Amino acid sequence: TARLGANDIRARKGAEPIVCLTAYTTPMARLVDRHCDLLLVGDSLGMVVHGLPSTVGVTMEMMILHGQAVARGASHGCMVVDLPFGSYEQGREQAFRNAARLMAETGCQAVKLEGGRHMADTVAFLVQRGIPVMGHIGLTPQSVNTLGGYRVQGRGHHEAERLVADAVALADAGAFSVVLEKLPEMLGRRITQEIPVPTIGIGAGVDCDGQVLVVDDMLGLFADFRPKFVKRYAELAATAEAAITAYAAEVRARRFPGPEHSFGEGKPA
Ligand code: KIV
Ligand code: NA
Repeated sequence: TARLGANDIRARKGAEPIVCLTAYTTPMARLVDRHCDLLLVGDSLGMVVHGLPSTVGVTMEMMILHGQAVARGASHGCMVVDLPFGSYEQGREQAFRNAARLMAETGCQAVKLEGGRHMADTVAFLVQRGIPVMGHIGLTPQSVNTLGGYRVQGRGHHEAERLVADAVALADAGAFSVVLEKLPEMLGRRITQEIPVPTIGIGAGVDCDGQVLVVDDMLGLFADFRPKFVKRYAELAATAEAAITAYAAEVRARRFPGPEHSFGEGKPA
């Protein structure tokens, strides 16, 4: 089947739900690509893979390296790479330069950036110049220091109206899709009804046009914290811990390696 692009994702509005997961490595990208419509190389990789305290310290170089790894494992899903903090906020020229670099060096089909109305001009500038853009509003983790934490966004009439205006502005600017993170499900439904492009929810209720999760979260691999919106479909950290515990005990007891893992004299390997 042909590779999905930004236009295919946009055309799914009102059709079947859009299935998305993050991926940061080639082997995970291969698995995700077999079952999902969209692979997001999210800047969450800073926390999930590199142990950073937030996404604020993620660099272009990190996004490119992981984008290249994911590209080697994905041939079907639409691949979207996050613009990291500091790479696009200064102005639309800066945003274009870095978005073009992400596309050229990773081969991704689109980029994602955080922010609502104040980023609309930048989104339009990129889209008019050949770069499909996915928006991201609600909880925007790159702004954790001004938001003061990772709370639910858009509660109350005033905040809800601001987020609706943000989503409309991004869609008007040409965003092919908008991520809605951590907002009341009623607001997820309302924004989904009001904009003509698909909403991809993460903690935004079941009525969004698609869903995304951080793959390490849903696999129970990244178990440092557990947001309410994450459903754990597996407990891989616990499985890995049990395996490593068994290995350590067998090495200490000289029970590993066994004869089946060892080489005899003169036999070909
Ligand atoms: O970085 C990321 O993984 C994201 C998704 C959670 C939407 O931006
Ligand atoms: Na992100």
